[in-house]
Amino acid sequence: MRILIVDDSPFIIKQIEGIIKSMEMKCDIFAAENGEKAIEMVSQNEFDLVLLDIVLPDINGLEVLKFIRRVKDYGEVFVIVMTSLESDEVLEESFNRGANDFIRKPIKPIELSSRLRAIVRMKNYQYLYKMSLEDLKEKNSQLIELTAKLKQTQDFLVQSEKMSAIGQLAAGVAHEINNPLGFVITNIEVLQKYFDKIVDIVNRYNEFIQILNDPKTQVSSIGNLINEVEDLKKKYRIEFILEDIPQLLKETQEGLQRVSQIVQSLKRFARSGLENKKTFEDLNDIIEETLLIARNELKYDVEVIKEYGENCHAYVNRGEIGQVVLNILMNAAQAIKGQQNRTEKGHIYIKTWRDSEYVYCSIKDDGPGIKRIYLSRIFEPFFTTKDVGQGTGLGLSISYDIIVNKHGGSIWAESEEGKGANFIFKIPVNVRMAEKNED
Ligand SMILES: Nc1ncnc2c1ncn2[C@@H]1O[C@H](COP(=O)(O)OP(=O)(O)OP(=O)(O)O)[C@@H](O)[C@H]1O
Ligand SMILES: [Mg+2]
Repeated sequence: MRILIVDDSPFIIKQIEGIIKSMEMKCDIFAAENGEKAIEMVSQNEFDLVLLDIVLPDINGLEVLKFIRRVKDYGEVFVIVMTSLESDEVLEESFNRGANDFIRKPIKPIELSSRLRAIVRMKNYQYLYKMSLEDLKEKNSQLIELTAKLKQTQDFLVQSEKMSAIGQLAAGVAHEINNPLGFVITNIEVLQKYFDKIVDIVNRYNEFIQILNDPKTQVSSIGNLINEVEDLKKKYRIEFILEDIPQLLKETQEGLQRVSQIVQSLKRFARSGLENKKTFEDLNDIIEETLLIARNELKYDVEVIKEYGENCHAYVNRGEIGQVVLNILMNAAQAIKGQQNRTEKGHIYIKTWRDSEYVYCSIKDDGPGIKRIYLSRIFEPFFTTKDVGQGTGLGLSISYDIIVNKHGGSIWAESEEGKGANFIFKIPVNVRMAEKNED
C-alpha cells in the first residue's frame, strides 16, 4: 500500500510513520509538508491512501481534497482528513468534497491503526471485487462469443437438415419432374410428325396454285390435282391432326408449367430461411408447395385429405414453415410406410384454421402412433426411434425451434400407440407479437 501523509508538522509525520511501522504493514510511506507539494505528488504518483491535514500553511487541505477528487475517484484513493478543529462544519465540508473518513488530532495510535486496518481490509475486498469483475467481464465476452457461434451452428444445422431432407426427396422430385417431361417430349415428337405432314400438304397446295396460274394448264388436269391433294389429306388424317394439335399444345404447356412449379418450389424451399425475413404468407399456400415437393414420397402409400381454412395468413419465414410442414409430413409418411402388415393406404389429414390470435395447422396420420414414453421426448434434439442412418432425430427439434423461438408460436403432438399421431402448430397472426418473439 502507498500512503501519503500531508501535514506541516514534522512531529506528526514522524508519529504517524511510527504508528504505521508498528503495525508491520507492507507499505511505502511518503510525506508532503504543504498543500502545493501534496498536489504535485498526487498528480505524479499513485497512492492508495492520503492522510490529509486540513490546516496547512499554504493551500487549505479542503482545496487539496478537491484536487484529489478531480483526478481520482472515491474508491480509488482513500482520503482520511486529520483535524484538530472542533467544527463540525469543516468535517461536513470534508465529506461533501469526498473524504472517506476523518480522525481527530491529537492522533491516538489505536484510532489510526484501527482505521488503517479497516482500509486495508476494504482495499483487499476491493481488489478481489475488481478481479472477479474482470473475470466476469472476460467470461461474459466469452459467453457472448460462444452464443454467437452457437447461433451460427444452429442456423447451419437447420439449413443442413433442410438440405438433407431435400436430398432424401431428390429422387422423388426427379421422378415428379420426369413424368411431365416424358409426355412433353412425346408430344413434341408427335407435333413434329404432324408438322412434317402439314408442310407436305402446304407444299402440294403451293404447287397446285402454280399450276393453276400457268396459262398452259389444261382444265381437265385440274380435277386430278384436286383429287391428289384430297387423297393426301385423307392419308395424313389431317382433320384429326388439326383437332389433336390444340390438345397436344395444351398438355405440353401444362406439363412444362408443372415442371417449372416444382423447380420453383424446390428453389424457394432450399433458399429461403437463409435470410431471416418474415413476409405475410398464406399458410395453405406453403402447405401446397410442400406437398408438391413431397408428392412422390406420399402418393403410393398415402392419401392426403385436405381441409383448408380461410384467411390463414401470418407473418412467417416461408422457407422455415415449409421445413416444419415437410418434417411432419415425412415423419407421418415414414411411420405409415414402416407398418409392415398394413394392407391399405395410409391417410394424412391436413387441416388449417384460425382464430383472432393464431393460425393453426394440424397434420394427423393413421400410422402406428407414438409410444407414451416417447411422447415427451420427440422434440429433443437427436431423439429418434429410427435405425442408424435413417433418422438424425433433428427434424422435430428444429421444427420446435422454428415455431416456438423464431415465430413465437407453439407446437405439440397428440398420440396414442396404435391410433396414429397428430402434430399441431400455431403461429401468432399479430405482426408485433411475431417480431417481438423473434430474438
Ligand atoms: N407421425 C409420427 N408417427 C410416429 N412416430 C413419430 C411421428 N413423428 C415423429 N415420430 C417419432 O419422433 C421421433 C423424432 O422425430 P424427428 O423428426 O425429430 O426425427 P427423425 O424423424 O427420427 O429423424 P430426422 O427427422 O432427423 O430424419 C421419430 O424417430 C419417431 O419415433
Ligand atoms: Mg423426422
